[in-house]
Amino acid sequence: MPIPHLTTEYLLEKACAEAMLFKDEIAVLLRLEDRAEMVKLFQAADSVRKRVHGDAVHLRGIIEFSNRCARQCVYCGLRAPNPELHRYRMEPEEIIEIARQAVALGYKTVVLQSGEDIWYDPEKMCHIIREIKAMDVVITLCMGEKSHEEYRHYREAGADRYLLKHETADPALYASLHPDMQFENRIRCLEWLRELGFQVGSGNMVGIPGQTPEILAEDILLMKRLDVEMAGIGPFIPNADTPLASHPRGNLDMTLKTLATARLLMPGAMLPATTATGTLDPFGRQKALKAGANVVMPNVTPLHYRQHYQIYPDKICLGEEPGDCRDCIQAIIQSLGRTVGTDAGHSPKVISNRPQPRALVRRGSDLGGL
Ligand code: 5AD
Ligand code: FES
Repeated sequence: MPIPHLTTEYLLEKACAEAMLFKDEIAVLLRLEDRAEMVKLFQAADSVRKRVHGDAVHLRGIIEFSNRCARQCVYCGLRAPNPELHRYRMEPEEIIEIARQAVALGYKTVVLQSGEDIWYDPEKMCHIIREIKAMDVVITLCMGEKSHEEYRHYREAGADRYLLKHETADPALYASLHPDMQFENRIRCLEWLRELGFQVGSGNMVGIPGQTPEILAEDILLMKRLDVEMAGIGPFIPNADTPLASHPRGNLDMTLKTLATARLLMPGAMLPATTATGTLDPFGRQKALKAGANVVMPNVTPLHYRQHYQIYPDKICLGEEPGDCRDCIQAIIQSLGRTVGTDAGHSPKVISNRPQPRALVRRGSDLGGL
């Protein structure tokens, strides 16, 4: 039975006014089943997105530079114990060259993503970061848990942002999904990244076994507490070569409800319409862009590598050249009456609330227009 005063109208009004809800209130929104009620939630998130971020959708070009991984995340196809995957690792100069092509395609942010692969030691990584930084582009790293010292080296070399999804805010569920990792360490890494002046991204999956709306509410509240600049929210998609092979995929509506509620509670965060959402539904990314999202992360990995970066199966865009992906995304954005962002696409809260990260202060000029 819904609690009588917790009507959708009341909750949306409160969330829009205060950017805060209690856990049980969030869970009520996530349990909405009636289509008209869900649409109200999506529309509220869409109007907060428009008010805070305008109509620009920011693009981030992702380079998947190594699919080698030392970890054993039970949902992920890159996990070390998966013998089915053909493994690759790009040379530093190759990564730099791909970044150059991404910049030539117009990307203002390059995301360097990999499994946890210690072959890329600080010396190699800092060389890669410095060379790419010289192209006057924002650098986001997404390469897992490292030491404080390593993160510091990357920051000093010029990396601006770091994505480290917390995956689930429930410590017991986290432990069951990550046999070789600790929830506390994940959070410690996120705190270090914050202290070091990175713009921090976290995120979670929707539809993992054992998850409840209350746990999803905790995911949103955790990211709000961490005051993240970015939150990647996407559905779980089972991979046949992992222990979660036979678990059902995440639900699109639940993913969109989580995303929309995250937008209400974190108005200034950059929220991607994730690739996993686009894989779950042919119009998944469009639906996400109409439910609070304002970022898309097209793949710029060369095709012969891309097919091997199989975190989950049937990932979209496996056959598209980087230039084609960019054109396709641009058409999608324009079909929604939105525009492709032309600046660095920082979260507005970075500009207004916080001392600016050193790398930005040094360049200075790209803050114009924000
Ligand atoms: N389905 C959906 N998303 C997944 N990820 C990993 N495995 C899966 C899966 N099976 C996501 C995680 C990880 C990111 C790189 O991909 O959130 O952080
Ligand atoms: Fe390493 Fe997923 S198991 S990226």
